[in-house]
Amino acid sequence: MSTPFLSVQNLSKRFQAPKGGEPLTVFENVSLGVEKGEFVCIIGHSGCGKSTILNILAGLDEPSDGAVIMNGKEVSGPSLDRGIVFQNYSLLPWLSALKNVTFAVQARFRSWNKKQVHDHSMKYLEMVGLADGAELRKPSQLSGGMRQRVSIARAFAIQPELLLLDEPFGALDALTRGSIQDELIRIWSGSDQTVFMITHDVDEAILLADRILLMTNGPYARVAESVQVEIDRPRERANIIHHPDYYDIRNHLVEFLATRSRALAGKQEGTEQSAPKVVRFGANAGAVIPSEKGSKPGARKRAVNGAD
Ligand SMILES: Nc1ncnc2c1ncn2[C@@H]1O[C@H](COP(=O)(O)OP(=O)(O)OP(=O)(O)O)[C@@H](O)[C@H]1O
Ligand SMILES: [Mg+2]
Repeated sequence: MSTPFLSVQNLSKRFQAPKGGEPLTVFENVSLGVEKGEFVCIIGHSGCGKSTILNILAGLDEPSDGAVIMNGKEVSGPSLDRGIVFQNYSLLPWLSALKNVTFAVQARFRSWNKKQVHDHSMKYLEMVGLADGAELRKPSQLSGGMRQRVSIARAFAIQPELLLLDEPFGALDALTRGSIQDELIRIWSGSDQTVFMITHDVDEAILLADRILLMTNGPYARVAESVQVEIDRPRERANIIHHPDYYDIRNHLVEFLATRSRALAGKQEGTEQSAPKVVRFGANAGAVIPSEKGSKPGARKRAVNGAD
């Protein structure tokens, strides 16, 4: 079987204790694959290690053991092939919202002139509702949700092969959140981008993802299950709840968070961890997939979400 676009191989992360005590093993032997063009969400309780995994995928943090391979090459540092929306937004405080975006766009598209960079950046700021003068303000002059939207515009504008999103909509009100989710699906559907997104919102995960990874509680957290979301696209927020699989999937996710994330927690015997258990619903419920890596890329797509 060919190696997936993104391959996480026996990844472990340990942090040294501040005063030389036992190190904290956040997760151990996490292995999973993501196919090109897939939209994957990861869910797990606070502190289980989701952001740590995402930072390693981004090349901003190093694993204690294991490796991340993207496009056949080991990830060993940050790259403009990977765009990130951080949990805490991480904007450059001395630059305006617009310059935060143009800075990244110029770095990504080196041959573009100033006007191209400006127009492209404004297009994405407009998409997140910040092209009305707010683009000239510095991060300290913006609300939390506005900062988060600048960060989203910056990540989308560089059109990365892999989009890494760490609770990207956490600070947004429901209406703004809905419209930016629709934009994300529109952008993703019209490209061959791969998305890896952390969320705490199970409904958001079902609406957006091809596959949802479920992480047990830490320490020694692991990705225990990979839930396939085989609901046809386009998916519409108002109608998706009527899909026959919807509540089965939702109940499964909620039940995992409520009980199994704790029941499955703790150090595993043996050093080799098997791939996450594949969970499917509906007509495919009984289908046997030999391993998570063998799962097909999500029912791609090219159909746009939402009412448009
Ligand atoms: N630099 C660090 N040094 C020591 N411990 C760290 C460091 N970064 C993270 N941790 C610890 O690693 C664990 C996982 O943190 P992480 O931020 O990945 O969790 P998370 O799943 O993203 O949580 P949340 O949902 O709250 O964002 C936590 O126990 C955290 O305290
Ligand atoms: Mg986090």
